[in-house]
Amino acid sequence: MAKSNNQIIIFDTTLRDGEQSPGASMSLEEKVQIAHAFEDLGVDVMEAGFPAASNGDFEAVSEIAKILKKTIPCGLARAVKADIEKCKDALKHSKRFRIHTFLSTSPLHMKHKLKKTPKEVLELIKDSVSLARRFTDDVEWSPEDGTRTTPDFLCKTVELAIKCGAKTINIPDTVGYTIPDEYYKTIKLLFDKVPNIDKAIVSTHCHNDLGLAVANSLAGVKAGARQIECTINGIGERAGNAALEEIVMAIKTRSDLMPYKTNINTKKISSCSKLVANVTGFPVQFNKAIVGKNAFAHESGIHQDGMLKNKKTYEIMTPESVGVTKSSLVMGKHSGRNAFKDKAAELGYPDLNEELVNNTFKKFKDLADKKKHVFDEDIIALIDDDLMKHNNAISLSSLEVIAGTKGPQKAKIELMIYDEIKKTETEGDGPVDAIFKAIKKIYPHNVNLQLYQVQAVTEGTDAQATVSVRIEEKGKISVGQAADTDTLVASAKAYINALNKLIIKRKRTAPSPDLSASA
Ligand code: KIV
Ligand code: ZN
Repeated sequence: MAKSNNQIIIFDTTLRDGEQSPGASMSLEEKVQIAHAFEDLGVDVMEAGFPAASNGDFEAVSEIAKILKKTIPCGLARAVKADIEKCKDALKHSKRFRIHTFLSTSPLHMKHKLKKTPKEVLELIKDSVSLARRFTDDVEWSPEDGTRTTPDFLCKTVELAIKCGAKTINIPDTVGYTIPDEYYKTIKLLFDKVPNIDKAIVSTHCHNDLGLAVANSLAGVKAGARQIECTINGIGERAGNAALEEIVMAIKTRSDLMPYKTNINTKKISSCSKLVANVTGFPVQFNKAIVGKNAFAHESGIHQDGMLKNKKTYEIMTPESVGVTKSSLVMGKHSGRNAFKDKAAELGYPDLNEELVNNTFKKFKDLADKKKHVFDEDIIALIDDDLMKHNNAISLSSLEVIAGTKGPQKAKIELMIYDEIKKTETEGDGPVDAIFKAIKKIYPHNVNLQLYQVQAVTEGTDAQATVSVRIEEKGKISVGQAADTDTLVASAKAYINALNKLIIKRKRTAPSPDLSASA
């Protein structure tokens, strides 16, 4: 069906498969913020979560279903009646929605995970797809571990799912095991052997365990697939999923060899990548294709010389085409509020409310007094910091730290806890330890600190530091971030930010059911 049409459907699963990355859980507010940004990016279908997994997932899928206007919201469901009904309940606020249901089909998964015979699996496919079709015309079906499924059985399951009403057939390379040639053949096989394949769109879903997710997805498209499932920054289970930005830019840059089109507004790629990195606390590696800090940096003399003569000598796409503006020095201490507002809009924050503009403009002025150059990234950090502040139970009023070789290191801290100022002083094993202990003394809690990470937002010793902190409490994970020219202040704020998010999560999330088996 899709072969003659060169339009590729971009199905984003950052909020579902991406969120399954260990430690990448996101709050409801963060997911809604991402959903808005991805709709703006031009994503066609958004897998917003797995409604049966937890109340938090259910709530997120239903909020996202309410806000999306153009992008089709989608929820994941096992081949289980209760999952499919939950999925429908979460999505029903949207006029149009997709239910994505899946079941393992490889001999290994059927025997050891499902403990079911191929015949029983076929029965479940029939029941689950037919049930999903009672709720929506838009049903997607996936044979989990599809690339390790025997070819004949794969064709049989796909034919049955289409017969029962599935409109999209997604072939997951669940464990990232396939290679481009083989994946091409798997997709081609469906077009050659499944008699009703013309009634469905074939989709790719590739994991990156061998670093081949993007190459495999493109091989699938070459064989006739017209939907690609992917995530921003390639986040996802284990080594992640195919990266949206790489797929889209490969198609755009090599249109001579891949004459396909997507609806992605590539200029929004960079801001979406930053948003996902901030929310998850997963930094993007410097040399990551398209969105890495160095993706458009030219260090060597020969390259710089070539670039000055003609940019095409060393650039196959422009930074502007993916929304990377040249890091500007234009903003400084003489810049006014309107210029600041324009700059914020240019950086992807067009609708900031007046209070937020006032707050961040004041912080920008303070920063410009302290720091010679204010870069775009500094401004983004200030705005993100303020955006995170809503719903805060705890905020930092003041911090003094004694650090250095003599020791003991001490932190004197003042926190506002639900409108009440509390203060304390504590010693620690280093200044950061002293700060975290002081916070714990004022606001007692029992969390595991899983990650503490400092990154410079821009270059130079006067750069703002962004600190990421990941904490865990009874299986709930929360990531906090904050930026400041003082690394210790950023550390305190990031820890407090993570605690604030955890407090929201404690109120929202009920325990997750056991999702170890698919049916
Ligand atoms: O990787 C996988 O198999 C999945 C399915 C649920 C589609 O994510
Ligand atoms: Zn997956």
